[in-house]
Amino acid sequence: MDIVYLNGQFIAADQAKISVFDRGFLFSDSVYEVIPFYAGEGFQLEQHIKRLKISLAALNISVEDNYTEIVQELVAKNKMTNCSVYLQVTRGADTKRRHSINESLKPTVFACINPIVNNYALAAAEVSGINVIVCEDLRWKRCDIKSTSLLPNILVIEQARQQGAKEALLINDGKVLEGASSNLFLVESNKIITPPSSHAILNGTTSQLVQQVARKQKIAVLHEDISYQRLIAADEVWITSSTRGLLPVLKVDDKFIAGGEKGAVWQKLYVLLAQAQAKLLNETD
Ligand code: PDD
Repeated sequence: MDIVYLNGQFIAADQAKISVFDRGFLFSDSVYEVIPFYAGEGFQLEQHIKRLKISLAALNISVEDNYTEIVQELVAKNKMTNCSVYLQVTRGADTKRRHSINESLKPTVFACINPIVNNYALAAAEVSGINVIVCEDLRWKRCDIKSTSLLPNILVIEQARQQGAKEALLINDGKVLEGASSNLFLVESNKIITPPSSHAILNGTTSQLVQQVARKQKIAVLHEDISYQRLIAADEVWITSSTRGLLPVLKVDDKFIAGGEKGAVWQKLYVLLAQAQAKLLNETD
């Protein structure tokens, strides 16, 4: 049985209990991170903890200092080498259900692990591209906060699954913003396009890394709005996330992108990203 972390204790998953009056349970008054670990080492751990603290500050939930130690100890205790850590912080358990915030609550901190594959261990030729669908974005106006309020995301992911697709891209007011659990990139004439950062999308850790790696190679990265027409006319489409890495999209709805083949710019970036991952992991030894 996996060991999980809950409020100061590392315990068997079936021993972990939270209050029915926890505001995370009642109101999704909570935020989270999903952090990949490869060979037991956190990948972009600092960036994930930084973003967690930004999400907590945005909701005025008190921030603690020991998140890094918690996730590292959890991975070590589970003796799991390649896994993702789910880390959730709620505003805490009240004594009754009420909308108003009781400022004396102590946040609930929970973490568990899931096995993952090392996304960058495959040769580029072995990576499978995915099909995606485009759905109306029904989320709130602060998607930069990594809130656990994920019902709109879950509904479109289910719609994608039913249509044989692996991700749903979200369109709002004519702009395709990001996936239900990933960021979005296009390639046009060897230039990389991704939507400008705003309250409407999550500032992805993988997206930031892809942009850094591209700029180092003098590949232009533009922050521009992406319409549906622009999306389906692109030379290449990719998604990025901590658990999926950098994945090529071969089909959007019923339309093939670039004839349904993985693109040359994707391949170049994928190889560079795999090298960057190996380097970053070595540096944390
Ligand atoms: N999701 N956009 C959304 C809406 C996301 O939920 C995620 C990540 C991303 C990519 O962010 P990052 O590169 O930092 O993982 C973008 C995680 C993996 C999840 O919810 O499981």
